[in-house]
Amino acid sequence: MENRSSEISGFYKLSVDERLKILESFSDLSPEEIETLRMQGSLGTELADRLIENVVSTLELPVGIAPNFRINGKDYLIPMAIEEASVVAACSNAARIARVSGGFVSESTEPIMIGQIQIVKYDSLEKLKSTILEHETDIITLANTRSRTLSSLGAGAKGIEIRTLDDPQKSVVVHLLIDVRDAMGANVVNSMCETVAPYLEEITGCRTNLRILSNLTPHRVSRSRAIFKRDLIGGEAVVDNIISAYQMANVDPFRAATHNKGIMNGIDAVLLATLNDWRSAEANAHTYHVLTGNYSLTRFSKTPEGDLMGEIEIPIAVGTVGGSTNTVKKAAIYRKILGVENSREFANVLAAVGLAQNFAAVRALSSEGIQKGHMSLHARSLAASVGAEKEEIDLISDTMIKNGTISMSKARELLEDIRKRTNK
Ligand code: MEV
Repeated sequence: MENRSSEISGFYKLSVDERLKILESFSDLSPEEIETLRMQGSLGTELADRLIENVVSTLELPVGIAPNFRINGKDYLIPMAIEEASVVAACSNAARIARVSGGFVSESTEPIMIGQIQIVKYDSLEKLKSTILEHETDIITLANTRSRTLSSLGAGAKGIEIRTLDDPQKSVVVHLLIDVRDAMGANVVNSMCETVAPYLEEITGCRTNLRILSNLTPHRVSRSRAIFKRDLIGGEAVVDNIISAYQMANVDPFRAATHNKGIMNGIDAVLLATLNDWRSAEANAHTYHVLTGNYSLTRFSKTPEGDLMGEIEIPIAVGTVGGSTNTVKKAAIYRKILGVENSREFANVLAAVGLAQNFAAVRALSSEGIQKGHMSLHARSLAASVGAEKEEIDLISDTMIKNGTISMSKARELLEDIRKRTNK
């Protein structure tokens, strides 16, 4: 198992069956699991109806695999659910380049989440704070009654912070700092906040209002870095352009929104394939710059050898226990393919994917532009959508790209021509 290599050239040229064969051996998938992947949907409306409310149907998305990832010395095939062409190809390509220099080196902090309890209407701020601090141990003990599992693991609520805000009521917010181990943590954090709030009211005589986790997780942060060799990415000018693109994103919120969106293209796609909460990941990532003052979640610099060093620092709250992954068969299989054993490893992988995706986008923007690669994939998808098969797809997309007209009607016209010529 440990010697498996995720380095696969030409994965995109294989048929779906051939790709499934690779997954079968790389991820030790059983015949039943392969059959489930072949099925059009493993989430029936009956199960869907148990997951959310007012269900009328389900929605399908393409899931692609990004090969070539090596993170902390381990090889990964990364499942990505996304509707946008180019993302999976770009991610795999970035991983292929990073691999030449040993791949990604990722690390994540302890999984500490924050639960917020808002206190409004108090007389003396100093008295309020000192009362809360005097009862810190009791507050933590009470919070920990909500999770025997976390307590037995030596995790759970660990401490408190008190903040005063500048809202019209000058709210005081008590932060519960909670080690949630391998969970994403939303449920346990919310339960702890709701348990502690009445006790805070009792000891302070004040009213509490909001009792909910914060989706901003500055104590639960992942970092990843990789070196992209200058000669593999178009030379010194491209290295310099990428650094300059990053520098622009770091000071310009308009560019940062797009730059960071590129990062989330990768991270969200993995979260979606494995049925994790990608909205919280989005909110977390996009709010982080408010704390750090750096708009860009990545950083690019030049190594002494003139290669490009890419780094990402991103808060990631993701779990491998709880959540919906195991409820939906396909999501569970995608998690198995991903092969992460705990929430830290999962976060390490996501950080590397975010960096890879961002590098790929900024590199394309810093050299030939984003449309070239995008349009060739778009051309292939148009060809497929008018009914072209196998070699017809290549022929039609190559012709459309060569002639500079990429449209559904052109694809249809070319398909008719081909079929007339081949009497199909
Ligand atoms: C498109 O989905 C993402 C990009 O716009 C990201 C970027 O501009 O860095 C290509």
